[in-house]
Amino acid sequence: EKGGYDHFMLKEIYEQPRSIRDCLRGRIYPEQGVVQLGGIKEYVEKIKNVDRIIIVACGTSWHAGLVGEYLIEEYARVPVEVEYASEFRYRNPIITSKDLVIAISQSGETADTMAAIELAKEKGATIFGICNVVGASIPRITHAGVYTHAGPEIGVASTKAFTAQVSVLTLMAFYIAQQRGTITQSKFVEYLTELDEIPQLVEKALLCNEEVIKIAERFKDSANCLFLGRGSSFPVALEGALKLKEISYIHAEGYPAAEMKHGPIALIDADMPVVFIATKNSQYEKVISNIQEVKARGGHVIAIVSEGDTDVKAMADYTIEIPLTGETFVPLLATIPLQLLSYHIAVMRGCNVDQPRNLAKSVTVE
Ligand code: F6R
Repeated sequence: EKGGYDHFMLKEIYEQPRSIRDCLRGRIYPEQGVVQLGGIKEYVEKIKNVDRIIIVACGTSWHAGLVGEYLIEEYARVPVEVEYASEFRYRNPIITSKDLVIAISQSGETADTMAAIELAKEKGATIFGICNVVGASIPRITHAGVYTHAGPEIGVASTKAFTAQVSVLTLMAFYIAQQRGTITQSKFVEYLTELDEIPQLVEKALLCNEEVIKIAERFKDSANCLFLGRGSSFPVALEGALKLKEISYIHAEGYPAAEMKHGPIALIDADMPVVFIATKNSQYEKVISNIQEVKARGGHVIAIVSEGDTDVKAMADYTIEIPLTGETFVPLLATIPLQLLSYHIAVMRGCNVDQPRNLAKSVTVE
């Protein structure tokens, strides 16, 4: 049932070209310039007039929500707030009937996320779900929603569900933008065409595995690890850190790269590997300065770079190439080597990657 892989997690990492394809299937028509999201079609008017979107989720799903915030604000120009469901539900949040609340949950059973949407529903908000498990509790209490169709995720650490959530949020960002007229049709078609190619690019990104194994060998005994990224790669850094800590039990933290100098820089020494997402996009030069700051303090830099990069390669200790893509789609590709890195380090440390200690696949108690 593991399809020849040693663990479900590895199988699920390698399934991503297909799971993203499944997630996009029947929803994206680049030639016609159409996104079809049947599950939320009845709410087009709501989407056109929405003042604010609140995303509620926990864990990895919350990280996907943060990527969604960057994309929805960028393209649809609607203010987005991303909330930990557990915090949101207990602080008497300000919600009105004009709000759209999006709950993201792989399992569709997370207790805090359920409670958050029940509260928002009581206050009159419209609730959308982005869930993976069909017919789970959350999709049953939302007004409408979109399934991620990533297929069953068995490994406790979320991998293919995350990239499917990000894919749905990307589609939603373009869809909302089109409905609200904040994107030109030609740009819309251009982005859809790029998104349609992502499954092939994920396939290519997976070719980094051999390089990742070498890096894992080198850093498997580290006690700590820092993950840094900017823009929509910041949530990818958070996700990279969560993955490493949950399955390898190495203490890891994710930060926006520019925040490093406000604290974490004090931790940097020869025993602190720093993983940068340093792909060629609008903040490339800024990330390069952050890398220099780490190198100047004796830190070891592992950088995820765009194919053909030379500048970062010249200064990082290790680089992992991913295919060149528009900034919008970097999270879908940069996540792949980080998943593999955690996986290999955890296996080398003898950890139970599919069932890490103290963790459950669905958290049905608060
Ligand atoms: C991390 C992980 C957890 C879940 C979180 C939310 O790998 O699996 O952080 O993401 O418990 O679960 P769902 O998405 O089922 O609501």
